[in-house]
Amino acid sequence: MNSHKYLVTGAAGFIGSHLIAGLLDKGHEVVGVDNFSDYYASSIKKSNISEISSIQGNFEMRMNSIEDFDSNFYGDFDGIFHLAAQPGVRSSWGIDFEKYVKLNVLATQNILEKSRGKVPIVYASSSSVYGDASEFPLKENCPPQPISPYGVTKLSCEALAFAYSKLTEQSIAGLRFFTVYGPRQRPDMAFTRICRALLTGETFEIFGSGEQIRDFTFVTDAVDATIAVMENELTGVFNIGGGQEVSLNEAIALFEKASGRQLNRRFILPTKGDVLRTGSSIDRIKDAVGWKPKINIEFGVRKQWEWALDHAELIIEQQNFR
Ligand code: UGA
Repeated sequence: MNSHKYLVTGAAGFIGSHLIAGLLDKGHEVVGVDNFSDYYASSIKKSNISEISSIQGNFEMRMNSIEDFDSNFYGDFDGIFHLAAQPGVRSSWGIDFEKYVKLNVLATQNILEKSRGKVPIVYASSSSVYGDASEFPLKENCPPQPISPYGVTKLSCEALAFAYSKLTEQSIAGLRFFTVYGPRQRPDMAFTRICRALLTGETFEIFGSGEQIRDFTFVTDAVDATIAVMENELTGVFNIGGGQEVSLNEAIALFEKASGRQLNRRFILPTKGDVLRTGSSIDRIKDAVGWKPKINIEFGVRKQWEWALDHAELIIEQQNFR
């Protein structure tokens, strides 16, 4: 297989750091860019980078913002994976929305403009573009109706990508990731918070009844899909889902089983912008590249719990996070 030179933005993040590991394993050369934004602690991002740095391979890390680069920089790559973003559905209300516009919409436009016509791009979108749908499984042609400001910015990125792909015929693919989990998951996300509560005995707060359903996707499955979409230079949007719809309460039971511990929990009011159910049809990506998820939720939960036990200090440090 030919070795390529790829750019990964959001390199120090959860999915970004796993993607780099996957690319290095395949013998590719990788330049990672991350601005170490303050959404969560830099200690976690440094730990993510140090986990990749132990992998043999040609990897260079740059601490920069996307606007720092010009079009010559982008022209030097065989492909761009654009994962940098201001994440988090729940924090996107209120005055922080400005950050979501800057780090999602404007940053994506910046890359699209400067790399225009030059190299294939695969960027991270989100299942949150669908909102509260009425028909399942969700297909890419369902009308998107996000119910959070975060989802609105991700849908804007898709609209920009569509416009640029029409202008240049460059391949540009958006991946609608469905609640990705596994080792190194972000500290604001449910599974990391469950692990933290199991480690410390603190109480995990469940927004609503816990009957909300997610199509949880294990991170290495998400990485395999991302690489396959780049290798095939696809254009358009693609669902990347784990293939099993599981309620939050069921997921908690799996963590209790994996850990042999009981979770202290409290049910509180539902949170704004939280969809009741996600569940993807993955036919489009399956037909295009033959990808389908390999990791079932029980195994994936065990892997995340084992990682949490090995990184307890790092996780506990984030106790009062959001
Ligand atoms: C996740 C990511 O945070 C988004 O960046 C991503 O775009 C999105 O998936 C997606 O799939 O599009 P979410 O599904 O809210 O968003 O993921 P979690 O934070 O893991 O939450 C899962 C469920 O647990 C949600 O219903 C949430 O409300 C609930 N939850 C979360 C709680 O009940 N308590 C908590 O402390 C945290």
